[in-house]
Amino acid sequence: NGTHSMASVQSLTASVHQRLANALSAALPEAADADPLLRRSDRADYQANGILALAKKAKANPRELATRVVARIESGDLLKDVEVSGPGFLNVTITDRAITENLAARYADPDGRLGVPYAENAGTTVIDYAQPNVAKEMHVGHLRSAVIGDAVVQILEFTGETVVRRHHIGDWGTQFGMLIQYLIEHPHELDHEGGEVSGEEAMSNLNRLYKASRALFDSDEEFKTRARRRVVDLQAGDPETLALWQKFVDESKIYFYSVFDKLDMEIRDPDVVGESGYNDMLEETCRLLEESGVAVDSEGALCVFFDDIKGPDGNPVPLIVRKSDGGYGYAATDLSAIRDRVFNLKADTLLYVVDARQSLHFKMVFETARRAGWLNDDTTAEQLAFGTVLGKDGKPFKTREGETVRLVDLLDEAIDRATAVVREKAEKVGLTEEEIAENGRYVGIGAVKYADLSTSAVRDYKFDLDQMVSLNGDTSVYLQYAYARIQSILRKAGEARPAAHPELDLAPAERALGLHLDQFGELLLEVARGHEPHKLAAYLYQLASHLTTFYDQCPVLKAETPEQVENRLFLVDLTARTLQRGMALLGIRTPERL
Ligand code: ARG
Repeated sequence: NGTHSMASVQSLTASVHQRLANALSAALPEAADADPLLRRSDRADYQANGILALAKKAKANPRELATRVVARIESGDLLKDVEVSGPGFLNVTITDRAITENLAARYADPDGRLGVPYAENAGTTVIDYAQPNVAKEMHVGHLRSAVIGDAVVQILEFTGETVVRRHHIGDWGTQFGMLIQYLIEHPHELDHEGGEVSGEEAMSNLNRLYKASRALFDSDEEFKTRARRRVVDLQAGDPETLALWQKFVDESKIYFYSVFDKLDMEIRDPDVVGESGYNDMLEETCRLLEESGVAVDSEGALCVFFDDIKGPDGNPVPLIVRKSDGGYGYAATDLSAIRDRVFNLKADTLLYVVDARQSLHFKMVFETARRAGWLNDDTTAEQLAFGTVLGKDGKPFKTREGETVRLVDLLDEAIDRATAVVREKAEKVGLTEEEIAENGRYVGIGAVKYADLSTSAVRDYKFDLDQMVSLNGDTSVYLQYAYARIQSILRKAGEARPAAHPELDLAPAERALGLHLDQFGELLLEVARGHEPHKLAAYLYQLASHLTTFYDQCPVLKAETPEQVENRLFLVDLTARTLQRGMALLGIRTPERL
């Protein structure tokens, strides 16, 4: 997209890389497409390590080749110093002017994108995330899927990918026979005469119905029979039965939306396409698999077998697409969803943000879809598997009574803790009660999200609220304070406004901060490509650390000259915008006063 690239800013790294590559191919024509292997370095700004291997290949002396490259490099305003070091490395230092000018271009980007380019090969991704189950409580597993999925959505969209969201909620299955039958026999249980119900009330209604119907199901054989017959009616599409089923779905959605709202996350109704949404496709999916020979009959069930998947007894474990009683399960639905996502939604990438404990299921489902020709090298599927949330004791997170922790309780506790932290400083900052409450929510929810996003998704992590709301260390509140502190400086600046002055020399801490800011765009593209939000979190934490060092060494409002004050205001303002943008992509707010 031509209009897109207008405001995008080439990174300093890319510019240096280009000049090096040009000089390299001038010095050694056969190295025309070779990578000089440029890295950020402590010795200089960058170090290029690629010449060694190239010289070896060309049977040339590496130091001599390096010297020839240096002689041919075009320095212009960009390069201050290029020096051969060691056996044939190049140390590259760029000019202060180039740093400031590059940052100024990012700062001036009218799109508010900070010069970040769009991805070159953007396509269409369908992402399956935030998929709780109807008539059941949400737990920490659903939290992870929602938080990771939402971050990946934001990041992909920012880089120009077309993203279709799918919330594959568990809204189908035999348990609905029992629930619906109970509701028929106890009508008005889900009527809301007094108007709207809260999410909490909706969930407690569902819990009550679930428990009551379960008790009846387990104790009353005749009810059990009626409940089983009800499942058949549901599957046959009987209108009365479907209408009652819909009541359960709607009641659950009230609850889901209240939790997503608490999570400060936008979930749109048309994107909620649960298991039931694929009912019409199930039969055809089975027929296609059977006709192509991908699935075969095994003791009356329709199954797909895999050479490398065997149970503990050594017998193959198949993927069961249709059970011997004719019922369809989780696999048939997921296979149908793949067809929908590939052929109707035109996806080239399918992502599933789902617990690692379901990895075998997805491995089999994806392999089946490949054999059927629905997936291939250009249309791929990937499970973004996430690990388990552990308690402080390192065991799967449970209440003291050994029950799964309700997500709402956990979020409320995080907000309470965060509010206490915010309150401690509130007087100094001059916050109203309302602002304390709002910041408490942003800090608390941010803490939960950041803890989840700052380690790579597949790893388990410990849910430790004390650590999460700590002001020191790799936490969201540390980043939020970094942002708020900059806003406070900008407010105190009075007449002085941020302005770039490329003619000024930069202090080491300014250069380090500036070079890190320069990496934002490339980092984001990398994060989007690999679906790895934790790398964005790490980048932002490093950014805040660079800022801390900068404050230690470089006074802003008390800098020596008015130009230096302006230039430093510009640097911190760009840092704040980068923090704000990066945090927003992770779904985390940055309050102006904290
Ligand atoms: N509802 C499921 C659960 O709570 C997750 C659904 C995952 N998505 C899918 N397409 N199977 O575990």
